[in-house]
Amino acid sequence: MITYDSDLFTITTDSFTYQMKKDAYGRLLHLYHGSPIAGDASALLSYRDRGFSGSPYEAGTDRTYSYDYLPLEVSTAGEGDFRTPGIVIEQEDGTLSAAFRYESHRIYTGTEAVRGLPHASADDAECLEIKLTEELSKAELTLTYAAKGSSLVRGMRIKAGDRKITVRKALYSMDTLASDHDVIWFDGRHCSERNMKRDHIDTSALTCTSRRGATSHQMNNSFIICASDTTETHGEAVLLSLLWSGSFTFFAEKDQYGTMRCALGAGSEFFSYDLENDELVLPQLLMTYSAEGLGDLSVKNSRFVSDHIRRKLRGGLTNPVLLNNWEATYFDFNGEKLLQIAKEAKNLGCDLFVLDDGWFGHRNDDLSSLGDWYENREKLGMSLDELSARITEAGIAFGLWVEPEMISEDSDLYRAHPEWALAVPGKAPVRGRYQLVLDMSNPEVTDYLKKTLDDLITRGRLSYMKWDYNRFITDFHSSVTLPGRIEYDYIRGLYSVFEYLNERHPDLLIEGCSGGGGRFDLGLLYYTPQSWLSDDTDAIERIDIEFGSSYIYPVSSFGSHVSAVPNHQTHRTSPLFTRSSVAMIGSYGLELDPTKLSEGEKSVIRDEIKAYKELCPIIKDGDFYRLMHTPDAGCCLAVSQDRKDAVLIAVRRLSHGNPKDFHVRLRGLDEKAMYSVGDKVFSGSMLMNAGFLLPFTYSEDLEAVRVRIKAL
Ligand code: DGJ
Repeated sequence: MITYDSDLFTITTDSFTYQMKKDAYGRLLHLYHGSPIAGDASALLSYRDRGFSGSPYEAGTDRTYSYDYLPLEVSTAGEGDFRTPGIVIEQEDGTLSAAFRYESHRIYTGTEAVRGLPHASADDAECLEIKLTEELSKAELTLTYAAKGSSLVRGMRIKAGDRKITVRKALYSMDTLASDHDVIWFDGRHCSERNMKRDHIDTSALTCTSRRGATSHQMNNSFIICASDTTETHGEAVLLSLLWSGSFTFFAEKDQYGTMRCALGAGSEFFSYDLENDELVLPQLLMTYSAEGLGDLSVKNSRFVSDHIRRKLRGGLTNPVLLNNWEATYFDFNGEKLLQIAKEAKNLGCDLFVLDDGWFGHRNDDLSSLGDWYENREKLGMSLDELSARITEAGIAFGLWVEPEMISEDSDLYRAHPEWALAVPGKAPVRGRYQLVLDMSNPEVTDYLKKTLDDLITRGRLSYMKWDYNRFITDFHSSVTLPGRIEYDYIRGLYSVFEYLNERHPDLLIEGCSGGGGRFDLGLLYYTPQSWLSDDTDAIERIDIEFGSSYIYPVSSFGSHVSAVPNHQTHRTSPLFTRSSVAMIGSYGLELDPTKLSEGEKSVIRDEIKAYKELCPIIKDGDFYRLMHTPDAGCCLAVSQDRKDAVLIAVRRLSHGNPKDFHVRLRGLDEKAMYSVGDKVFSGSMLMNAGFLLPFTYSEDLEAVRVRIKAL
């Protein structure tokens, strides 16, 4: 329910309350967010003369009123608030002061389709829109709040008024009184994405950013704010996650009176967006609440993302079992070899064969050809049409790898359009993996990509496309876009290509990728329902990446493959059953040469693919729980939403002499039901309260167990 009463805006669902107040001077105070409350949280505010805190002019001689200590929904410079502002507007004369006052509001049902940007859709969401006007420039700030279940989706738009302004920063902020909170963030590096880190926010401030033009392996754009005693199974937590794939900024700081300010939004310090007769629509922010710990938070968030944000195909392939030839062949293949691999993949039970990097231009290594999206007939020994036809005739769907945002200097495209690469005039560009980045803010470039990729999809009869992105942006100079706009306009250009292709090919599955999981975010999931999770295909390390990612995203969006041993990244040899079990925590696939497998391995893989197909509905539509995550072992459980069917997957990562037992308490089951667990029967209450002894045999290293749990 959303109410407006005596200047108080209250958004309440069964799971949370979010409350704001229009103050006597028209500013918007942020009073509360958290477990549902009835009543006016402004009772928590105290007004005293606080030395050295400025007061708004309208307050006259009242020195007790200051934005330096009040919790604010919109925090700007020049209002007496000395904390870090969430919004910085540069006026035409260079002044950074900005005062946004309440103008109007409306309450309605349903979410708005934000053309050109990822957005949550829910016809039955309740929505509040508040308009504020900036005193000097008359710029209009529109804030939207769509509430449904445990989630709140915030939106923000800034429209120029009489005069030109430059938006230097536009973050969603949230102030919390008397804070005793931790912040959880997810950092990493290539091959080690989304490591969960946690810190208490006290007098120190935390800033997390990506100035790479993409979300990055190094820092994800999702954060959890939780009580300092919150655990997996207990306590309050709210997840903030941007529907955005570009640079971003987050900060959390505690002020002199113990109020914490958190802010998150698009753009790094390189962002600076000038507006004149124009509007800037900022990417949405998803906030999901739970009072029952981080496990419940992930479940609620994943359900919301699956139901209201993540792309659903009209038809075609959903979570297909695929074989990707990258680790099987790298650049060393021809058409006949690919056909052998595709046929063997079909025999194993795969739905889709994916031809990765190296099929186009004259690419035999990563030095050339990005931009030339036509096949290398000489290398393939046939046309793309023929290869595609012969693969699909073999009874398996066909998909291709592309890296559309990139350009090699050694390419026909670069020779024709050097100005399409981002580069600073007079300065040699920075290379990353030998390649340059196309200027996606230039409509000529995006038009070219729309046409080229559309033709490729049609001609290759593609069911799937893997969209890779293997370097970050360094040279913020475009031939058509001002430097400060590039971070934003680049991503809008990227989204426009996805939008076009998705509209033209509603059955095409596009899988996101960025050197593994360097651009795994809700912005991409809006267009590409699954994303390659990491270039680290080692089962033992991948558990960390899967578990870290599962705090934010639905598990079935993780591209997860069984690769050969010794593993190409870690050189570790783990059992096939372990590799396969870990790959089942996601959208399953193979990343190996099936023609090199022994008959015994083929038979195991055939059975494993059958097993995955049976388990896929639970992984896809069910809830995912992390039960144990230590250096010794990882254990998780996927439970169908009706709580009747579940699968537990556990892996021992470190072997010890005279090992200890591993016990886990299951979650998400029905306490009153009886379950068959392998060949035994237990009550739900026993499994959830007393626990379950993981049935490891301790007869091999890196052992996995997979246990099916079914209600009787
Ligand atoms: C990086 C991806 O993550 C890999 O899976 C593979 O597609 C390579 N790029 C190809 O260059």
